[in-house]
Amino acid sequence: MSSQPKLHLTVGLPGVGKTTLARELERASGALRLTPDEWMLPLFGVRWADFGGKRDVLEGRLVWVAHQVLRAGGSVILDFGCWSPEERYALRAIADLAGADFELHYVTLPEDERRKRATARWREAPEETFEMTLDDHERFRTSFTPPTTDELQGCSPPPPPIPFESWPAWASDRWPTLPRLDI
Ligand SMILES: Nc1ncnc2c1ncn2[C@@H]1O[C@H](COP(=O)(O)OP(=O)(O)OP(=O)(O)O)[C@@H](O)[C@H]1O
Ligand SMILES: [Mg+2]
Repeated sequence: MSSQPKLHLTVGLPGVGKTTLARELERASGALRLTPDEWMLPLFGVRWADFGGKRDVLEGRLVWVAHQVLRAGGSVILDFGCWSPEERYALRAIADLAGADFELHYVTLPEDERRKRATARWREAPEETFEMTLDDHERFRTSFTPPTTDELQGCSPPPPPIPFESWPAWASDRWPTLPRLDI
């Protein structure tokens, strides 16, 4: 483990290879990997990513654990996908708060290949995923906001949206099971 802890965040649409990359990072760096899909079924009995908001409940607690591990000097991989820039800014701010570095790993694939892989994984490893229809894929594609060049280069995030006083405050609203980490 390097002396400076780091928060790694995998970003990208379903099936692009985020968890595959997260496992490689885990092996190479010894960082703690937190992949929500591995927790949904054992905890809630459902695979569906957003079933009844349970994924948000889970993610909030995983961010909280990540912050504690970073503060203790360990590195963490949040294998979250993070479709919105606000989520990514908030997690970057939480890494800052813990005195950790931050690295965004943006994974992309041509759309037809991504869909093929997502479908193959549903066939081969249904316990790791959920079935995605053509409509789902279309919705995913249009809901995802890719990171900008500034984001990828690690430029300072913009201020949080009104009325939030900080990105950690925004994060506790986005993930209600995440306590305010900056007060
Ligand atoms: N380089 C590759 N070539 C071919 N198949 C791959 C490659 N990398 C990953 N895969 C396969 O593609 C599928 C999706 O990969 P992975 O689970 O890593 O994606 P993901 O981005 O984590 O998806 P999700 O967002 O749904 O969790 C898996 O079945 C994986 O084995
Ligand atoms: Mg995954």
